[in-house]
Amino acid sequence: METVVSGIRSTGNLHLGNYYGAIQNFVKMQKEYNCYFFIADLHSLTTHPTPADLHGNVKQVLIEYLAAGIDPEKATIYIQSDVPEVAELYLYLNMNAYLGELERSTSFKDKIRSQPDNVNAGLLTYPVLMAADIIIHKAVKVPVGKDQEQHLEMARTFANRFNRLYNRECFPEPYAFNFSSSLVKIPGLDGKGKMGKSEGEGNAVYLSDSPDVIRKKVMKAVTDGGPQTENQEKPEEIQNLFDIMKVVSTPDTLEHFDNLYNSMNIRYGDFKKQLAEDIVLATAPIRERIKDISTDASYLRQVARHGAIKARESASRTIKEVREIIGFRSF
Ligand code: TRP
Repeated sequence: METVVSGIRSTGNLHLGNYYGAIQNFVKMQKEYNCYFFIADLHSLTTHPTPADLHGNVKQVLIEYLAAGIDPEKATIYIQSDVPEVAELYLYLNMNAYLGELERSTSFKDKIRSQPDNVNAGLLTYPVLMAADIIIHKAVKVPVGKDQEQHLEMARTFANRFNRLYNRECFPEPYAFNFSSSLVKIPGLDGKGKMGKSEGEGNAVYLSDSPDVIRKKVMKAVTDGGPQTENQEKPEEIQNLFDIMKVVSTPDTLEHFDNLYNSMNIRYGDFKKQLAEDIVLATAPIRERIKDISTDASYLRQVARHGAIKARESASRTIKEVREIIGFRSF
């Protein structure tokens, strides 16, 4: 059975982008593949969270993974820092990761722009840690959103480089995966770019948002003055709302508003109201389960412990082999 790995950085509540870009695929894949889904708390250290925030964020992502339907009986769910073998492999891979290629990564360049006073080495080697996450389990499929494509390409580079350096077929090549034909990008509500935590207040709809908060955020979403001609191309901020509607609403609803737009009869107020209600509906079961699971500390503890044991079994097998290959041999 093919192995699958994916994770989400623990920076707090998960949003619709995380759900439709990644988690929905996790839930489908767990039935057919040998899956490892983790909470990337090591990656979250690049922004220096306080210990209390770090712990709270990890707990929230764990709750929301479970609430969204990831089943600890089917998939291995674990917390990245519970598997120190990942950090060890990261160190080895760093020895063959080059400054030039790391500096060229678009996510790194974005960070230089967005946080110029905290351009730390962890940010630079973020793709190396991500590669370690994936190849520690020898995964071949990685369900992620569109923005992670370049990181997957780098993971393949590091895996291949290790294989070539030691002339061993230790790591298979991992590829980004989505059940639909292409990778998904869920846009934010601010009219530009993807949905994300760091993109500003009100840009992201969280799985834990109450119906009222969802309605407020959607009604505030950026729109324009309306179509100027029939069947015109939609400007980015309008297309973005249609893109969100595509994942939460029925095809009939989508078509209905598309027709209204094309005939210049759309009223953005009605459009957004419908979009908000469909988001509320789509997230309702998850919201309910978040409430239930949040209060079940013993269940959370049991899931985390069980996941750590299973993930370490797989990771330590790989590390044993890697140490042998590198030349760390016992006397
Ligand atoms: N970089 C991913 C993101 O920002 C999170 C991540 C870290 C990840 N390690 C990974 C995803 C390994 C897939 C596999 O969403």
